[in-house]
Amino acid sequence: MNYWTVIPAAGQGKRMNAGISKQWIELLGKPVLAHTLDVFEKDPLCEGVILVGSKQELKQMQQFVQTFQYTKVHQIVPGGKERQQSVYEGLKKVTKDADLVLIHDAARPFITHDSIQQLVARAADSGSAVLAVPVKDTVKKVVQDHVEETIDRSSLWAVQTPQAFRLSIVMKAHEKADKEGYVGTDDASLVERIGETVAIVMGDYHNIKLTTSDDLLFGQAILLDRQGEKHN
Ligand code: CTP
Ligand code: MG
Repeated sequence: MNYWTVIPAAGQGKRMNAGISKQWIELLGKPVLAHTLDVFEKDPLCEGVILVGSKQELKQMQQFVQTFQYTKVHQIVPGGKERQQSVYEGLKKVTKDADLVLIHDAARPFITHDSIQQLVARAADSGSAVLAVPVKDTVKKVVQDHVEETIDRSSLWAVQTPQAFRLSIVMKAHEKADKEGYVGTDDASLVERIGETVAIVMGDYHNIKLTTSDDLLFGQAILLDRQGEKHN
């Protein structure tokens, strides 16, 4: 099934502390945003991309899209203060007759076609689906400096993007959250709030979000590994 993609890229990358926002950081000579957009540009099922940038970076983003000749980027729109507002602004620009929409962080450049395909198939079937991986660490609830509870790991999953939804569902969820001033940590949580079931699709541990500088080391290793695979 065909889909549209909203890519929020309007953050400041404060935790990365690189002096520039994360999408402009170069990995093996190519900006993070290019790694991310390449995947959707090359996916025949992707019909269009709405890119969300900060007001201050809109010009830079337009120029970047021109330079890299991304034909699927339909619009570049200004984002909001929180990620959720940026996504909402992007969703408003998705063509009304789109069926499925994927929301994918610009800062997750290692997403694969394989994962997208599985996610899209599941969401086409169920209405809402997210990529996630089982949590590897033991997670404890801590109050001040002592453990209050050890949480049963067997039911814990770390969710990623893309998250895929029928457009009507995710619009309804965002509209309600916006009206009520509710801020969730991901888009699926807004959809859960309107009573929809969100399906889990097994993701890939390489689909990391670049958050702190440690992630850049791992990211480079992932890219080098992929290059090695191509040459073997
Ligand atoms: N994002 C956005 N609009 C915001 C905040 C974040 O579009 N107001 C985007 C980021 O550009 C990123 C994605 O949402 O692609 C995930 O957010 P996060 O990893 O938190 O990125 P930043 O907000 O840029 O980083 P930080 O929280 O460390 O400042
Ligand atoms: Mg952030």
